[in-house]
Amino acid sequence: MSHGPSLDDLAEDPHPHLARLRLEGPVAWIDALGGWLVVDRATALEVLRDDATFTVDDPRFSTAQVVGRSMLSTDGDEHDRHRAAFAEPFRAAAVRDELGSWLRNEARRIVTGFAPDGFAELRSTLAAPLAVSTVLHTLGMDDADADEVLGWYRTIGSAIEGVNAGRAVDAAARGAVAGLRSRVDATVAAGAGPLAMATGHLEPDAVFANAAVIMFGAIETSEGTTASALAHLLADPDQLDEVRADRSLAADAVEEALRIEPAACLVDRYATRDVELAGTSITVGDLVTVSLAAANRDPEAFPDPDRFDLHRPNARQHLTFVQGPHVCLGMHLARLETREALEAGLDLLPDIRLADGGPSTTRGLVFRKPDAVGAAWEPAAD
Ligand code: HEM
Repeated sequence: MSHGPSLDDLAEDPHPHLARLRLEGPVAWIDALGGWLVVDRATALEVLRDDATFTVDDPRFSTAQVVGRSMLSTDGDEHDRHRAAFAEPFRAAAVRDELGSWLRNEARRIVTGFAPDGFAELRSTLAAPLAVSTVLHTLGMDDADADEVLGWYRTIGSAIEGVNAGRAVDAAARGAVAGLRSRVDATVAAGAGPLAMATGHLEPDAVFANAAVIMFGAIETSEGTTASALAHLLADPDQLDEVRADRSLAADAVEEALRIEPAACLVDRYATRDVELAGTSITVGDLVTVSLAAANRDPEAFPDPDRFDLHRPNARQHLTFVQGPHVCLGMHLARLETREALEAGLDLLPDIRLADGGPSTTRGLVFRKPDAVGAAWEPAAD
């Protein structure tokens, strides 16, 4: 008999399975993953903060096989060198000052486009286009064709999944990498923005690999977070009214949405030595996967963890952006992006509510998002 939930269980509704595993202990062997799964917050932190014992730098790490070595696939000095070259534009103050008004206008531009219709599916009409235009703008690639970039993104994404499933990188993936590479090189050659700045610190292959990782880090996760924040608020009219009445609560809604359903919910590490982890013996080379979804619903840290609660005092202690050396580079940008999307919806779509059909289902093994977020409102009279 196999031990632990199946991949389908974890992709469909992982939370009851994770809660059951946590009752047995913080670390469980899961046959379907071929590795250990960490399901409490304290042990998750122990793993995420100790990159000398739990590294990302392993030949099994699929992203590096497709796009090359980047901050996501390295540890120690090499990681710090990659990350430092891109850190500046993603700092909290830089995001607020350089990107704040652009984000506000962009969210409003997108919502204004469909506001007269009176209804929309907000994941595909708002969350997804905002995620793509935001990362392209941040990287100075505004003139790139968003659909072309998304096409490369999907092809490279399936190649990464293919490598995970034991397949080689195919010609289509090599073509997509070459297409994205030529777009990144053209942006560097234009001489301004974060990519050109990074060339002062990193060789061209590394600039490309990190640019790809920034896009990969940003697109699906931001789409999922914005869609999930909208879905949770629309499903709870009382809390939605509270945010309508007091806009300072929009930031709390974003934080609680990040906690309750992390858009990237599993991160992988590899043990560099034999080690005891919360009473479990881990062998050198073992895969140690941290369930951010489980850490974020650990009742020791978050009482009544399955409830979406705007007033949860410690929602910001979620591990959705991890902690330690790989803490999400884009976390300030992602928070602001989702907040601007919520506020644009509340300001421009009067009386917005969940459309008939009710709340959507959230799915995904690693990247989780609501299937659809159908909403309706009173279109403004002409
Ligand atoms: C504008 C949006 C975003 C950008 C540009 C971005 C970029 C990145 C980058 C470059 C890293 C690698 C950092 C490193 O290894 O040193 C990273 C890590 C991470 N990001 Fe983001 N990200 C964004 C949004 C998000 C969102 C919305 C989520 C989740 C909801 C998320 C979750 C994570 C996680 C879990 C990691 C850690 C991966 C690991 O440790 O293995 N990111 N992000």
